Amino acid sequence: MKQKKLSSKLVLPCVVVFLFFAIFFVLMTTPWLDPKPQNNAGPSENSLYRDQSQPIEARVLDLLSYMTLEEKIGQMALVERNILDDSSDIAKYHLGALLSGAGSNPEKNTMEGWLEMIDGFQNEARSTRLGIPLLYGVDAIHGNANVLGATVFPHSIGLGATNNTKLVKEVAKATALEISASGANWNFSPNLDMPQDIRWGRVYEGFSDDPDLVSRLGVAYLQGLQTVAGEESQVLVLATPKHYLGLGGMQWNTSLNENYKIDQGVTVADEEQLRSHYLPPFESVVSAGALSMMVGLNTWGDKRMVSHKYLLTDLLKGELEFKGFLVSDWYGVHEGKLSIFLGTVSAINNGVDMVMLPFEYQKFVRHMKWANRLGLVSDERINDAVGRILYAKFALGLFDTDKNNEIVLKQQHSALARQAVSESLVLLKNNDVLPISPNVTHIRVAGSAANNIGRQMGAWSIEWQGFEGNNVVGATSILEGIKNAVSSNTKVEYNRFGNFSKSSTKADIGVVVVGEKPYAEGWGDRENPILEEEDLMAIKNTQAVSKKVLVIIVSGRPLLIKNEIDSIDALVAAWLPGSEGGGVADVIFGQKNFTGKLPLPWPMTSEQLPIGVDGTTANNTSVMFPRYFGLRY
Ligand code: BGC
Repeated sequence: MKQKKLSSKLVLPCVVVFLFFAIFFVLMTTPWLDPKPQNNAGPSENSLYRDQSQPIEARVLDLLSYMTLEEKIGQMALVERNILDDSSDIAKYHLGALLSGAGSNPEKNTMEGWLEMIDGFQNEARSTRLGIPLLYGVDAIHGNANVLGATVFPHSIGLGATNNTKLVKEVAKATALEISASGANWNFSPNLDMPQDIRWGRVYEGFSDDPDLVSRLGVAYLQGLQTVAGEESQVLVLATPKHYLGLGGMQWNTSLNENYKIDQGVTVADEEQLRSHYLPPFESVVSAGALSMMVGLNTWGDKRMVSHKYLLTDLLKGELEFKGFLVSDWYGVHEGKLSIFLGTVSAINNGVDMVMLPFEYQKFVRHMKWANRLGLVSDERINDAVGRILYAKFALGLFDTDKNNEIVLKQQHSALARQAVSESLVLLKNNDVLPISPNVTHIRVAGSAANNIGRQMGAWSIEWQGFEGNNVVGATSILEGIKNAVSSNTKVEYNRFGNFSKSSTKADIGVVVVGEKPYAEGWGDRENPILEEEDLMAIKNTQAVSKKVLVIIVSGRPLLIKNEIDSIDALVAAWLPGSEGGGVADVIFGQKNFTGKLPLPWPMTSEQLPIGVDGTTANNTSVMFPRYFGLRY
């Protein structure tokens, strides 16, 4: 009896709940609620958007007019290719862009293997009613280094040390050609972050901590990637300056990622500092024709960067008149959000135009439809986002000619990479050691990075976190470079640990190439970046059996060497030089003099960190070497 009463009480709420869900289900799934394409006639062979002679703005508007809501939402999705359930989903969900996250390589990891894979994806996209080609994005941040046999240039910090805009433009152009040869058309580069704390695992991805240098090299890099000689109106490879805004100024121990310490942390700056220090490089690349930009994973104030409508929409798109599209970074839109749905809605309304999706893209498409039907994301916002994305696709010429993907052989760019290496080296100390004569009688070479192409390339090479050892073809180690540079009478002995046989005669010179194990992003956050024990021993051992010792540091950041500096006769910062170890030999054996200058201050101790935008250290003491320090012999 009691039970009966209770259940009758529940009937009404149950009916209400049932009706609510039924109505919600109908509302969310019936297509007649979608906004209709403006142009019902549908596209034809002669549609304006297919006509190359029309201005891009007109082509965008024409194409938009045929598009359904679903087709538009698909353009806003950037899907990691590994999570595609099936490549037919490209057409099914009208996907607009795919990426290979670092290390997401085809089984046949050659230029041809990449081309085959990406062509297959493009065929799916072109098979759709509107035939909108895909953007295919890669992190070719120091050459198209995911691909085996590609030219691997110095990481950006080394390019910063060259302070050579012409060279950096050439490096970017060569990278663009090797990207095109692999079928991709979009690079998540140049990196405009400005590292102020060497404990950060991404220091080497930035050119410098000086906004002026970063602006100049950022523009050069963007132009090198995008410009087709003689066809200035067409973009070769779409550049994506990143990460907007304030990266490099995060505080130690503020990361919102539980595995990291400073990467994805909180940027400490007021609006004035944000505008005067971090914004100028982005302003410069906007003026130079940037058509896409990536939003950082950092936090400013109490909000993640994707939550700052003021910075994304009002400042960048409004005040700076950025005409391109904003893409979010990895899980950026959803990290730290209670609901994926609300995270998506908020990011799109704040100004993100394309969402990077290393997870279920189907959910993104569904959520965006719901959001539009519930009036949470307007038709205008969607049209604006899609218009920006299509603009970049037209500018890339994707709708017009099938790009002529001529395979570019590595040899064509190795000389350029070698030049970049030699110009990136910074001479920090030289007590009558350099240049070494190629006719020297006896050299002893040691250190963890002397015969280790993985270390000299650093991360974002084949794998996200890079690799150790020499298991790649077509690259030259620093040791090999030394052997190739000296006379046939010179004896070159090598032992990684400096364990040389104790002979009565000391070698004329010992060269110890010390290095860091490769790392990417927050996995490289290190509280006390000093030399590894193994390398300290190698220096000591080599000093015992050599008249003088040159130490070459292969690292993604300045390392703390206060205890070692006095005992070393000569010191060179080689950053992460990439595939051409010969470039190091060119300079130490006197083929070329040093021209590189430190792109950021080299601190003495970790108590000095972070170093302020004006060069002052946290404890007001002097750094070991200031920014732009660099000797010649
Ligand atoms: C990085 C970006 C990169 C993206 C795609 C993210 O983890 O922060 O810089 O472009 O992955 O690989």
